[in-house]
Amino acid sequence: MTQCRVAIYPGSFDPVTSGHYDIIVRASRLFERLIVAVAPNPSKQPLFTAEERVAILQEVCASLPNVQVECFEGLLVDFAMKCGAQVIVKGLRAVSDFDYELQMALTNKRLCPQVETIFMMTSSEYVFLSSSMVKEIARLGGSVQGLVPKAVEPYLYRKLGRSVPNKETKRG
Ligand code: PNS
Repeated sequence: MTQCRVAIYPGSFDPVTSGHYDIIVRASRLFERLIVAVAPNPSKQPLFTAEERVAILQEVCASLPNVQVECFEGLLVDFAMKCGAQVIVKGLRAVSDFDYELQMALTNKRLCPQVETIFMMTSSEYVFLSSSMVKEIARLGGSVQGLVPKAVEPYLYRKLGRSVPNKETKRG
């Protein structure tokens, strides 16, 4: 039996959310080494540059010794092979993620049968969460406390030219 020691967790991470971080922590316990792979994705017109997203993730993951953050261009499976990763980790939030994720997993399998995609269910408290949602809340002056790792907040508000709200935006 072959043991999978290196896994890759790809994404745009624009910016990394608490949901992403939850997957990173849980996946880092399953593999000897976890590579968080940042895709530049210019077509999505990201808020942060790829270099900024890598720097933020490095800060957020600093306490996880077997987690490494890298930026990649081109095909994910090529990068996985280059890194010696046998597994692609993806987070699944809801049924709405499934079609797209299945399509990507099958495409990657077709391109590179040696690399396996595994899905981890997002923890229930983050099922609704996305980077787009976080950016919209921050852009409109709401608090993203708890929705992103603490270290992300100042980067986000600074980028949007806003000050960090001092109260959590929870009504009722
Ligand atoms: O966080 P995202 O934007 O959903 O991540 C998407 C990502 C980066 C995982 C996906 O776009 C990707 O794998 N890009 C690399 C290009 C590639 O390999 N495409 C072919 C497989 S679908």
